[in-house]
Amino acid sequence: MSELQNPTMDHVVKSNISELSDINYDVESVRNDFPILSRKIHDQDLVYFDNAATTQKPASVIQTLTRFYSEQNANVHRGIHTLSQEASDAFEAARGTIKKFINAASEQEVVFTTGTTGGINLVATALSRGILRPGDEIVISGMEHHSNIVPWQMACEYTGAILKVIDVLPDGTLDLEHYESLLTEKTRLVSIGHTSNAIGTIHPLKAIIDLAHSAEALVMVDGAQAVPHESVDVVALDADFFAFSSHKVYGPTGFGVLYGKKDLLEMLPPYQGGGDMIETVSFEKTTYNTLPFKFEAGTPNIAGAIAFAAAIDYLNEIGMDAVRKHEQGLIEYGLDALGSIPGMRIIGDGCPRASVISFLVGDIHPYDAGTFLDRMGIAVRTGHHCAMPLMNRFKIPGTIRASFGMYNTRSEIDALVKGVERVRGILA
Ligand code: ALA
Repeated sequence: MSELQNPTMDHVVKSNISELSDINYDVESVRNDFPILSRKIHDQDLVYFDNAATTQKPASVIQTLTRFYSEQNANVHRGIHTLSQEASDAFEAARGTIKKFINAASEQEVVFTTGTTGGINLVATALSRGILRPGDEIVISGMEHHSNIVPWQMACEYTGAILKVIDVLPDGTLDLEHYESLLTEKTRLVSIGHTSNAIGTIHPLKAIIDLAHSAEALVMVDGAQAVPHESVDVVALDADFFAFSSHKVYGPTGFGVLYGKKDLLEMLPPYQGGGDMIETVSFEKTTYNTLPFKFEAGTPNIAGAIAFAAAIDYLNEIGMDAVRKHEQGLIEYGLDALGSIPGMRIIGDGCPRASVISFLVGDIHPYDAGTFLDRMGIAVRTGHHCAMPLMNRFKIPGTIRASFGMYNTRSEIDALVKGVERVRGILA
């Protein structure tokens, strides 16, 4: 470990006490499962704090991808030959694993997509085809990722529906009174992130969903930043649609899931046309496949689905509650440690948060801080985090975002604190 990454004594003591109290969680053993964590960046130990952008992959996920392409590769649902049968079985078994992971009632409710963005676009586009009407209202929040803003702006443009936006309070939470006031008999849909990618706020999702339902509105949830950090039960939440991405949950990129209640998915028209989503095709009349295949046109990301199931198996082995507890410990420790830096401004400092701390230090531009931190081997995301309206709300150009995953440690947070102090010494 380099001088820059040596934790201060204070933090070492705290770190050991907290890590000992969490005796069931062996973070070093978890770290050993992630090959990339032994990489050096600019001759320093890698400190990977960009988990909200994408997570690293355990060896079991990497091996599953390699094994699929080395031993099993074939298209699914299309072949009588052995390889195709094996690939189809593994692909559909993955659907079963994912169904269980989010506690969906049926595999028919688990639609495979390209990611959270794909899932939200699917729902927004399908609703735009004859369901949304001029004057209908769609409610989102001022804290959404662009992928939960722009598809609804497009839906409004195509249908004449109107977009309404819940205000964000100075402490980084949503103004729930304002939310209630936006719900009217014209509200058709509320689309809300479970957890903010930019500042980490965990919203009171169940209450938000219940209020929407009492106004007879549907609810779409962007679950991308929640599923990696806590156990999610779509039935208990009573979400109508819930989208998330594999790559933020230790699985491969290019694969994701849209959960939808069966009757609603039945009601929606297909999103894309092509192979696999049809039952019969003729020039006179084409009929569509049953769920979930109606929404899965074209050759899917077969290896992605199977390897994502391997990621879920890995998480299940460790236990989502243990992951959550470990990460909550990191957040508490990180807020405390970063908070001691002069000029520190944590954005959304009063909110219940998932594994994200978004901050600014004095007048230092986030890009400058990010560049210096990278030289110390520390990977953070800097900028607007695909949430420009939120940055405008706080009148800031962007933030420095440290986002934690299941393999991060308090010693790494010490390295970040030391790194930020060093940047401050150079730039402030
Ligand atoms: N949505 C991802 C992030 O927040 C890319 O970084």
